[in-house]
Amino acid sequence: MTMTMGEDNSIEAEGLVREFKNGPRAVDGIDLRVEPGEIYGFLGPNGAGKSTTVLMLTTLLPPTAGRASVGGFDVVEQGPEVRSVIGAALQEAALDPHLTAREHMRLQTALQGLPHDERKSRGDELIDRVGLSEAADRKVGGYSGGMKRRLDLALALVHRPRVLFLDEPTTGLDPQSRTSLWDEVSGLAAEQGVTVFLTTQYLEEADQLADRVGIINDGRIVAEGTPAELKSEIGRPSVEISTRDEARREEAAALLSRFGSPIPTGRGAVEVRLDHGIDDLGGIVREFDAAGIELASLVLNEPTLDDVFLAKTGRHLEGEGAEEAGEGES
Ligand SMILES: Nc1ncnc2c1ncn2[C@@H]1O[C@H](COP(=O)(O)OP(=O)(O)O)[C@@H](O)[C@H]1O
Ligand SMILES: [Mg+2]
Repeated sequence: MTMTMGEDNSIEAEGLVREFKNGPRAVDGIDLRVEPGEIYGFLGPNGAGKSTTVLMLTTLLPPTAGRASVGGFDVVEQGPEVRSVIGAALQEAALDPHLTAREHMRLQTALQGLPHDERKSRGDELIDRVGLSEAADRKVGGYSGGMKRRLDLALALVHRPRVLFLDEPTTGLDPQSRTSLWDEVSGLAAEQGVTVFLTTQYLEEADQLADRVGIINDGRIVAEGTPAELKSEIGRPSVEISTRDEARREEAAALLSRFGSPIPTGRGAVEVRLDHGIDDLGGIVREFDAAGIELASLVLNEPTLDDVFLAKTGRHLEGEGAEEAGEGES
């Protein structure tokens, strides 16, 4: 699966729009470029337009306006060429509960036109790669959500795609299955130069896995950059303190508010976004000392992608149905 010179593994979209009849403008003018070998995280809440974008980029849904190309091929004019270079694990990907992983592989390698003598070895290699060797001859109906996602990923890799689309690959998975899928995906990009476009509702997933993140809300990209760039737009960290004596909380809040603007926190603590950043810490500690207020804890919080989302949209990304465990798992 090594890349040959001249192969263009990029993804490009310009003014991409999708309107549904009697529905919303699900995708409302998206411009993006994903470089070869890059992992691009498309981060946004439910209904933001993530899946609709993926369906257009994978040629499964025609755009209403704009254009896009994948691997150098136009998604409208050159559908077959696009499909030959991409792999996709989409949300509705249907696995047959009555078939085993090995049987799914046999079907997929045949569908993809692999030569007869390569089908079994390729299938076994991929099953092994996603850690399903032990379960390979068990019916998929008995698999956990994480095992199904890993099989989905293996099936998408059969024809050695140069560009891989993953629509919410870890929604509903437990943290351990999630990290093991992240490892798999970063390995594909790092070792084999596969370009990855993945959608997610999870801040942590975008932060840890993606080289670059596009934040999508209501069909539009509201921010884009590396996780570090996005967070540095917010710039200053916040400091969160709690007092030993509950009764002195108000006093502490008043004192702390001299150093920055308050941020809502639900933890019985008080928090402010620091006006001058980390340099304020010494002053804060001295002021609390001078006022004789004993601290139970003092935590410095670096900006998160949720702070970025909040700054751009006025609301938090997580906590609004983003954790519907089990969604899309079957
Ligand atoms: N086939 C469709 N017909 C009408 N509206 C749709 C259709 N598919 C998606 N939508 C709407 O388009 C918006 C974006 O949906 P979607 O791309 O699935 O968002 P996401 O994947 O980010 O959750 C939502 O408001 C959704 O209800
Ligand atoms: Mg979706």
